Amino acid sequence: MNLNKNYENLEQNYLFTTVAKKVQEYVAQNPDKKIIKLGIGDVTRPLCKSVIDAMHRAVDEMAVQETFKGYGPEQGYAFLREAIKKYYQSHGVALKIEEIFVSDGAKSDLGNILDLFDKDNTVLVPDPVYPVYVDTNIMAGRKIIFINANENNEFLPMPDESIQADLIYICSPNNPTGAVYTKSQLKCWVDYANKNNSIILFDSAYEAFIDDEEIPHSIYEIDGSKTCAVEICSFSKTAGFTGTRCGYTIVPMEIPNLNQMWLRRQSTKFNGVPYIVQRGAEAVFSKDGSEEIKQNLRYYQNNAKIISDTLTSCKIWHIGGKHSPYIWLKCPDSMTSWEFFDYLLNNIQVVGTPGAGFGKNGEGFFRLTSFGSEENTLEAMKRFKQLFG
Ligand code: MLT
Repeated sequence: MNLNKNYENLEQNYLFTTVAKKVQEYVAQNPDKKIIKLGIGDVTRPLCKSVIDAMHRAVDEMAVQETFKGYGPEQGYAFLREAIKKYYQSHGVALKIEEIFVSDGAKSDLGNILDLFDKDNTVLVPDPVYPVYVDTNIMAGRKIIFINANENNEFLPMPDESIQADLIYICSPNNPTGAVYTKSQLKCWVDYANKNNSIILFDSAYEAFIDDEEIPHSIYEIDGSKTCAVEICSFSKTAGFTGTRCGYTIVPMEIPNLNQMWLRRQSTKFNGVPYIVQRGAEAVFSKDGSEEIKQNLRYYQNNAKIISDTLTSCKIWHIGGKHSPYIWLKCPDSMTSWEFFDYLLNNIQVVGTPGAGFGKNGEGFFRLTSFGSEENTLEAMKRFKQLFG
């Protein structure tokens, strides 16, 4: 028996596990201190009424012989895929139902989709980046090239014609920086991918936070994208499904073989998302449901503004927070990311995510999330002001 040696090339722990461990140790030593967590991007608002009602109805259906459901279709129930299709239509994107695959979340799909690609493909990843893109490719032993995202390009790197990459990761609105690509910038990536016969893996998990009609919610709003892009999205941040688990992936028919391969992969290795959860997800798109989730999104957007205003008043450089739940800030006094993490934890008991955990260009930066409660966000910012104001 030989183990997968590629695992030796990973950091010892997943980023958010390291953060959680450090916080646990601090709490054990300082049990009387009140910690405020603005680290991992986990929602705090409960599921909205329409979603809960739909789930309750689905639970009742499971109790009755006539409406009980066993295994569902591996690609998801038609009612949810139709609802997703309609949502894309509202952004001017026409999808075929067969192109939509429901899953248990974007993180799983981002890892699983790699089954379809040869180990010898070269992967292009912006740095800083959501660690899952990097770790899943390290596990598979793929060659990774990093493209710099930094202050000079406003954390929005553009294609470099001298680089040949087969798989390209783009996340917009971006995790961790909150930066968003415009249509014309995404068009450059689409043209580059088509020219080089590459595939873009487009992570749109934060699209619901976009607050400007000019900014694309989907890569498929860009001409030419159907021949080069797979889109992965989630109900986690849009509708608070982090604990409920539901997402979806779009694999266009225009890309040779890929849709058929993903169907083959999913029907072999995946048995679908629970019926109850899919009924809840469907309700996100109903008239009342979409209004209710907007209220939650506005709540988080207001938290982002509270954070951003405080940082501005403390003269701390930052971006994000406008079309994203993440605020990306420069650590004051030239502290490293982990020094700043410890400094905040020890002095004001506020937890964030060290930028260095997202890649080398994240060193010296720090991420805060707007997913906390308003009360905690206000309290965290009051503490920030005492420290830096
Ligand atoms: C994050 O904090 O970056 C996200 O919550 C992680 C995730 O979505 O898996």
